[in-house]
Amino acid sequence: MSVRRYAIAVGVVVLAGLVGMTVATGEVPYPDIPKGRGEACVEDTEYMRRNHMTLLMHQRDDTMHKGIRSKRHSLKECLDCHAVAGADSTPVTVADPQHFCRSCHDYAAVKIDCFQCHASRPERDTVAEAREQ
Ligand code: HEC
Ligand code: HEC
Ligand code: HEC
Repeated sequence: MSVRRYAIAVGVVVLAGLVGMTVATGEVPYPDIPKGRGEACVEDTEYMRRNHMTLLMHQRDDTMHKGIRSKRHSLKECLDCHAVAGADSTPVTVADPQHFCRSCHDYAAVKIDCFQCHASRPERDTVAEAREQ
C-alpha cells in the first residue's frame, strides 16, 4: 500500500467514524452531509461513501472512447438527487460550501476538477420538483 493510499484509507475510516459518532451522540454533525432524495442511492449508501469516486472516474475507462454509458452512474443523476437548496431555495452550484460534493470534500481536503467541465447543479430545479410532490 502506497503512503497516499494508506493516508486515504485512514481518511475514509476517520470520516466514517465521524459520521457514526455524530449519529450516536446527536452532536452537531460535522461534516454535515445533506440528505439525498428518494428511497435510496444508486448503490448501497455505505458503498457509495467509500467508492463513489471509482464509479465516477472516466479518464481511463471505456465511457469516453466507446460511448458506453450507464445512466445509473451518471453525474447528472447524482446531482438531480443530491441537489441542495441555497438561500434563494434553488439548487446551489459548487461555488457554495453547502454543495453536496463539498460537504465532505472540504472537510477531507479533497479537490476535484470535474465541475470545470460538468454542471454542478441539475438542469431542472429538482429541489422545487421535490417540494411540489
Ligand atoms: C476537461 C473536461 C472534463 C473534466 C475535467 C471532467 N469531465 Fe467528465 N466528461 C467530460 C465530457 C466531454 C464527457 C462526455 C460528454 C457527456 O456525456 O457529458 C464526460 C462524461 C462524464 C461522465 C459520463 C456522463 C455523465 O453525465 O455522467 C461522467 C460520470 C463524468 N464525466 C464524470 C466526471 C468526473 C467525476 C470528473 C472529475 C473527476 C470529470 N468527469 C471531469 C468532460 C470532462
Ligand atoms: C435516486 C436518487 C439518488 C441518486 C440518482 C444518487 N443518489 Fe446518492 N444517495 C441518495 C440517498 C437517498 C442516499 C442515502 C441518504 C443520505 O443521503 O444519507 C444517498 C447517499 C449517498 C452518499 C453517502 C452520503 C452520506 O451521508 O454519507 C454518497 C457519497 C452519494 N449518495 C453519492 C452519489 C453519487 C456520486 C451519485 C451518482 C453516481 C449518487 N449518489 C446518485 C440518493 C441518490
Ligand atoms: C460522504 C462524503 C463524500 C461525499 C458526499 C462526496 N465525496 Fe467524493 N470523496 C470523499 C472522500 C473522503 C474522498 C477521498 C478518498 C479517496 O480519494 O479515496 C473523495 C474523493 C472523490 C473523488 C476522487 C478525487 C481524487 O483526486 O482522487 C472524486 C472524483 C469524487 N470524490 C467525486 C465526488 C462527487 C462528484 C461528489 C458529489 C456528487 C462527491 N464526491 C461527494 C467523500 C465524499
